[in-house]
Amino acid sequence: MAQATYHFPRGFLWGTATAAYQVEGGNTNSTWYAWEEQPGRILNGDRAGLACDWWNGRWREDLRRAADTGQNAHRFSIEWSRIQPAPDRWEEEALDRYLEMLRYMEELGLMPMVTLHHFSDPLWLKDKGGWVSPTVVGYFDAFVKRVVDTLKDYVSLWCTINEPNVFAVMAFMDGVFPPGEKSLSRFYRVCLNLVRAHTAAYRTIHAIQPEARVGLAINYRSMVPARPWFPPDRWITQLQSGVFNDLFPLAAKDGWVRLPLLRRRVPEAKGTQDYIGINYYTRDQVKFSPLRPGEIFSRRFFREDAILSHTGFIANEPEGMWDALKWANRFNLPILVSENGVEDPEDRLRPRYLAEHLHQVWRAANFNWPVKGYFHWTLVDNFEWERGWSQRFGLWELDVETQGRRKRPSADFFAEICRENGISAEMLARYAPEAFEKIFPN
Ligand code: FCB
Repeated sequence: MAQATYHFPRGFLWGTATAAYQVEGGNTNSTWYAWEEQPGRILNGDRAGLACDWWNGRWREDLRRAADTGQNAHRFSIEWSRIQPAPDRWEEEALDRYLEMLRYMEELGLMPMVTLHHFSDPLWLKDKGGWVSPTVVGYFDAFVKRVVDTLKDYVSLWCTINEPNVFAVMAFMDGVFPPGEKSLSRFYRVCLNLVRAHTAAYRTIHAIQPEARVGLAINYRSMVPARPWFPPDRWITQLQSGVFNDLFPLAAKDGWVRLPLLRRRVPEAKGTQDYIGINYYTRDQVKFSPLRPGEIFSRRFFREDAILSHTGFIANEPEGMWDALKWANRFNLPILVSENGVEDPEDRLRPRYLAEHLHQVWRAANFNWPVKGYFHWTLVDNFEWERGWSQRFGLWELDVETQGRRKRPSADFFAEICRENGISAEMLARYAPEAFEKIFPN
C-alpha cells in the first residue's frame, strides 16, 4: 500500500459551517417561521421547532465537539430577526448570546467566520417591501453596523451574504423560499439590491474594522454541456453559469451587474471582496431546451452513472470542486471553501465524498492557489429549509425528538484529517477504501 500523505498548507482553516435559522430553533420572528406555517411549503410539513436547540445553549456542546475533533475554525451566522425584532427595537440580550458564543470559540481555539445574512429575514422587512425594495440596503446596513460594532473584538472574517445567487433564485424565481415569488423582473431587482446591500455592508465593516476580511459565499454550481459537440448546449451552459456563478463576485470585482439583456453599473460595488467564498456541492449537465422558457431554455440533470446522495439532491462530482477552485483563482484573491458536504443519514457516501473533494482542494493548494480553508457542511444534522428534516448533512446525527447526538464515522475521519492537516493513504484505506485507487493510484 502507498505510504503517502497529501498535506495542506500551514495554518489551513479546518471547520464546519452552520446557519442560525437551521440550528437555533424557537425563532418566531423570522420569515422562515411564517413560511413553515403555510401548508405545503416544507416537505412532509416539517417544522424547525427547536432545530439543534442552540438558542437554549446547546451550541456549547456542539462547538466543543468541533474543537475536540481537531477543528480550528467555525462558520456560523447571526440572525437578523433576533437582533432587530422590530424596525425600532434592538435586542442587546441576543447580541450578548452571540458574544458569549464567540468568547467560547476563542477559548476552544476555533477561529470564527461570521455570516450576516443566511436566507432568513425579520418578519417586519416584508412590510417594508423586502428585498425587492431598495430600502432594504439601508436596513441591512444598520443591522450590520450594530453587529460589527458589538462583535468586532472577536471577529475579523466576515461573510456579508450567504449564497445571494441561491437566495434570489429560490425566493424570487422558483418561489420555494419565502416570499415565494416567481417573477423575473422582481428577481432582477432583488439581484441589484443584494449587490448594493453587500456593498454597503462591506464598506461599513471596513469603516469600523479596516483590517477585517470581508466577502461573499457563492454557491458555485459546476455546469457542463450535456452534448459538448452541440453549440446550443454550450451556449446555454455558458449563459446559465454566467448568471448563477459569476453575477455576484464579478459585480463585487468590477462594479457591473450582468443579467441577460440587462447590464447595470453599480460603481460603488467595485473592489468589495477580500476573498472568494465558494460553497460547492455538485455538478449539472445542461441541455438546450427551447420549450422551457421558465428555466432559461434549458434542462439540467445529473450524469447518468453518477453516484447520488440519499434523496438524489447531490451527485458525487469532485471534479466540479476543481472547476470551482479554478474559477475562484481567476479573481486573484484568497479562496475559502465556505461549504461542502453531502446528505447521507447512513454515512455511506460521505467519507468518500469528503476524501475526493478534499483531494481536489489539495490539488489546487499544491498549485499554490491561495486556498486558505475548508468548512464542511455541517456539524450536526439541521433543518434543511424547504426540504425540512429529510436531508441529513451532519458529521453528527441528530435525534430531533430527544436532541440526542450520535457521531458518524465521517466525524472521526474528518478529525484525523484536521489533526494531520492532510489525508494519508492509511486513513483513506480505513475510512474510504472505495476512493483509494483514485487518490493514490498504483
Ligand atoms: C447551501 C446552504 C446551506 C445548506 C446547504 C445544504 O446552499 O447555504 O444553508 O442548506 O446548502
